[in-house]
Amino acid sequence: MKATQKEVLFSEKMLAVVSQKYEAAKEPKETWAPTDFLPNFASSTWQEEVKELQDNSRNLSDPFFMALAGNMITEEGLPTFLTWINQNDHIADRSGVDDHAWAKWARAWTAEENKHGDILHKYLYLSGRVDMRTIEITIGEFIRNGFTTKSLNDPYRGIIFTSFQERGTRISHSRLGFEAKKAGDESLGKICQVVAADEGRHEAVYQSFVQEVFNQDPSQMMLAFTETIKTGITMPLSAAGKDTFEFFSKVTEALGMYTYGDYIEILEFLLKRWNIDKLEGLDDTAEKARDYMCLLPERLKKIASRKKPWLLENIKEPLLWVNQEDSLVSHLQTKRGQLESLQLDQV
Ligand SMILES: [Fe+2]
Ligand SMILES: [Fe+2]
Repeated sequence: MKATQKEVLFSEKMLAVVSQKYEAAKEPKETWAPTDFLPNFASSTWQEEVKELQDNSRNLSDPFFMALAGNMITEEGLPTFLTWINQNDHIADRSGVDDHAWAKWARAWTAEENKHGDILHKYLYLSGRVDMRTIEITIGEFIRNGFTTKSLNDPYRGIIFTSFQERGTRISHSRLGFEAKKAGDESLGKICQVVAADEGRHEAVYQSFVQEVFNQDPSQMMLAFTETIKTGITMPLSAAGKDTFEFFSKVTEALGMYTYGDYIEILEFLLKRWNIDKLEGLDDTAEKARDYMCLLPERLKKIASRKKPWLLENIKEPLLWVNQEDSLVSHLQTKRGQLESLQLDQV
């Protein structure tokens, strides 16, 4: 008789994978802490340290800061993600201190994610580049609205979602870090990269969980993968409201921080990561789903080729969350050396 979802998720092999990933997630005292990368207010040099942080931040544009703030807000939505993880059938941490490997992993993961919002929040506050009050309001709205991945409490779909989402966040943090370094802001570059490194490990962890389910229950996992992609990977910031999310997406696309092309790349990566074209033992429905999924990246590329990409100069609205002292207009003027020719109404 075919194993149930619960039997697969709590099989010896599966639990060995989850436990191993849990053990590999270092205890908080053995890994980095946000203050390792921020000014130390107990030091006699704290004023110089803050000034240096603020001076370095001046090399980066307002759209960059809007993107960074959006990433921070996403991380600060962590309470909604933990709620969501604990809605998943079988693997949820029902008591808050459950002793099974899935619950332990989820708590270790949450402890790591908590540092991401923490470090970015403190950095942005100290930089003086952003309007903290509007950011705090957006965080409040995000958490108050709530967030769902639309995975219907199905743990197979849940770990597909996180495999995708963690790779997406790794890409965006890593690109911001690269930009910061390029602009001469080494310390912000390090902050973004230490966060990106965690996200990189998280994506690998969730992808290995999915791999083990594919090993044991290929047809059901194939259907879960297909349904998750068909439903769409909901970006967490969408919980902050449609307008906010659409504007953020425009800016991040225009900056090249996260684009539709990245979405397709992640899909292609996952298809290869789990050897979808070589999967064996699929039933008829899962075979059909596999065919659909293998053709999907090419179909999406065709759609992408017809899409007009967003450019910073076409974004006319005032940016979200940033202090407007160094506006998008001045950013474009500096960037393109068109100080004289630019008219306010052209940008
Ligand atoms: Fe994170
Ligand atoms: Fe993560």
